[in-house]
Amino acid sequence: MSFVITTPLYYVNDKPHLGSIYTTLICDTIARYKRLLGEEVIFITGVDEHGLKIQRKAKEKGILPQDHCDKISQIFLNNWKNWDITYDKFIRTSSTEHKMIVGEFYERVKNSDDIYMGVQKGWYCVGCEEFKENPENSSTLKCPIHQKNLEWKNEENLFFRLSKYQSEIEKIIDNPSFIEPKERRNEIINFVSKGLKDFSISRTNVSWGIAVPDIENHTFYVWFDALLGYVSANNIGNVDQSLESSIIAGWPANIHLIGKDILRFHSVYWPAMLLSAGMKVPKKVFGHGFLTREGQKMGKSLGNVLDPELLLSKYGKDPVRWFLIKDISLGSDGDFQNKRFVDIINNDLANTIGNLLNRTSSMSRKWFQNRVPNNENISRDDTLSSLSRITVDNYINNFNSYKIDLAATDVLNFAINTNLYLNDKQPWKLIKDEKNIPLVKEIIYNVLESTRIIGLLLLPIIPELSANIDEQLGSIYKKDILWKKQLKWGTLNHDSPLPQPIPIINKLDYE
Ligand code: MSP
Repeated sequence: MSFVITTPLYYVNDKPHLGSIYTTLICDTIARYKRLLGEEVIFITGVDEHGLKIQRKAKEKGILPQDHCDKISQIFLNNWKNWDITYDKFIRTSSTEHKMIVGEFYERVKNSDDIYMGVQKGWYCVGCEEFKENPENSSTLKCPIHQKNLEWKNEENLFFRLSKYQSEIEKIIDNPSFIEPKERRNEIINFVSKGLKDFSISRTNVSWGIAVPDIENHTFYVWFDALLGYVSANNIGNVDQSLESSIIAGWPANIHLIGKDILRFHSVYWPAMLLSAGMKVPKKVFGHGFLTREGQKMGKSLGNVLDPELLLSKYGKDPVRWFLIKDISLGSDGDFQNKRFVDIINNDLANTIGNLLNRTSSMSRKWFQNRVPNNENISRDDTLSSLSRITVDNYINNFNSYKIDLAATDVLNFAINTNLYLNDKQPWKLIKDEKNIPLVKEIIYNVLESTRIIGLLLLPIIPELSANIDEQLGSIYKKDILWKKQLKWGTLNHDSPLPQPIPIINKLDYE
């Protein structure tokens, strides 16, 4: 069975912003980690191309919606390439394989007697592509997320019988591992407890959508269409384009990683749709927090949107990955502050990890003929080896429970403690007396071996820097040997050559 992980399918109203990069980098890190464990992974990402928002955007630009979507989808693909995202499937909801799945899925839901025609009245946010509940309580009738005016809708739509699934949904969300983190789960439990209402799944005024097969002038509601991208993605490249074949290829997903604003769709509407079609529900929905910039919500109108392409060209992939993964607890909101970003990169990566490796390798080269010390007369001090074992255990436990910030912190703490060990032992003083050579060999070996393990643990988080560390140790990581096996203490060969040290990362400057 494959491990299936998904990002949301991003709206193509604009190019990717830091929020979309954030979710995608997290999924990429988890996918890389699972692959290192030897698991078969299907990492799904893609774009959500239909709906009123996109239709209007294309009109604004004076081009056809399909041309607009082609252009922006290509920008997403280019971004994923530049960020080295290791996705397996990139689904576009305007693709043929996707449209076929939506059609077949609709038939199943219809056969379950879960579709009926009704009248939809309410206030709609085109930005969210969602009807807002009780907006009359708000004095402004603006969407709290988009700060744009809501639009009144009153039209005949097809409805999905969500209310029928009340008790089944209650049962699903009762499982504490279905929605994470805890606070988000409570929000959903609260929402469901108020009673589920049927929701409309077709539109009459939106031409840019998938046509409902049996009803003229109706296109599917963009969310009914887009959620199915998680399933249709599995049919990319398949000869058999049936729903059944996409299920066999990779359904259900192990985790949908999404932002907190779209949790209801994923943890309530989507499971009910799947139940209606006789399909399994995803195993987990994880709602991460929102990124702000210097304490403020990011928005085009505020003029403070952080352009991910600029960040990438200025700082490179790994510093941004490290910051977003280590500094923000997955599930909580996070703030991007330039000063903090630079401090963290310089302290954690350049000083704590980079310098540790650099100075230890230099000492080893100077005293032991450009090599890792040999093992003659080496005694056994297990300070670092036992710390390494504890670090690896904690890291694996944290990663497995998606506490990836804590996993990254485990690695950093190990590097901090290895620095303390080195400073405490002071081999540069000991080496002055020849009788201390066996002890110095041991200290240097222990520190180099710790840096090797630190590098390996960084592999799914900051792959480039991890490769730089490996190179500095003589390129000893073996792709064909299980990663976990290589995390065992003592794998670094005594007496192996050490290349000329170069910094694994350059220090960043403040703006
Ligand atoms: N198209 C829908 C998803 C359909 S999934 C079948 C959608 N797209 S989106 O492009 O608007 O949002 C994609 C993701 O970006 C959402 O998970 C959203 O929470 C996330 N983010 C948008 N702004 C964000 C931040 N400022 N910070 C972090 N994530 C943010 O919704």
